[in-house]
Amino acid sequence: MPASAVPMSSADTTLFNFLDRCHQDIQDKLVQMMALAVAVEADGLSPALQAQARELTDWFNAEPRQHHLDEEKHIFPALLASSDESVLQTTHRLIQDHGWLEADWFEIEPSLEAAADGNAWFDPGELRQAVEVFQQLYSDHIVLEESLAYPQARERLDPALLASMGVEMARRRAIRDAKPKKTPRA
Ligand SMILES: [Fe+2]
Ligand SMILES: [Fe+2]
Repeated sequence: MPASAVPMSSADTTLFNFLDRCHQDIQDKLVQMMALAVAVEADGLSPALQAQARELTDWFNAEPRQHHLDEEKHIFPALLASSDESVLQTTHRLIQDHGWLEADWFEIEPSLEAAADGNAWFDPGELRQAVEVFQQLYSDHIVLEESLAYPQARERLDPALLASMGVEMARRRAIRDAKPKKTPRA
């Protein structure tokens, strides 16, 4: 039976809906980041763009990393236990992607941080190009996870474990969301 045909329990649904929602959030933020880069390149910085740069910098320093950790802790180990060579290759590629995505973010972060502080030392054209690369790699990565890794993991994960994973992810985020937010810099 293909993985996509496996009926989902409510624990499955909760966990994978949560992971899918993380992907949607990442893609939405990448669209915002691209719009920001285009706007800065066209018109320079404004207070509104500075505030958006701050929000995006803080978000990308937290959410995607947490999502990658969730996958590395809960999803990929089940795939690495597979004897299917294509599943193993895909999983290694996805793990490697996490490293490349982090490297791409390190390219972008100093410019966004500068934009947030109203400091326009960076090259807006280079920022836009770096965001394009980041957005493309994330898009390819997410397609591969949703089409292959998540369905394969759903087949392999113990249903009893799924519920506890979903609870753990939700609890970690609840603790984080309860912390006071950083105030924008003047
Ligand atoms: Fe991932
Ligand atoms: Fe992911």
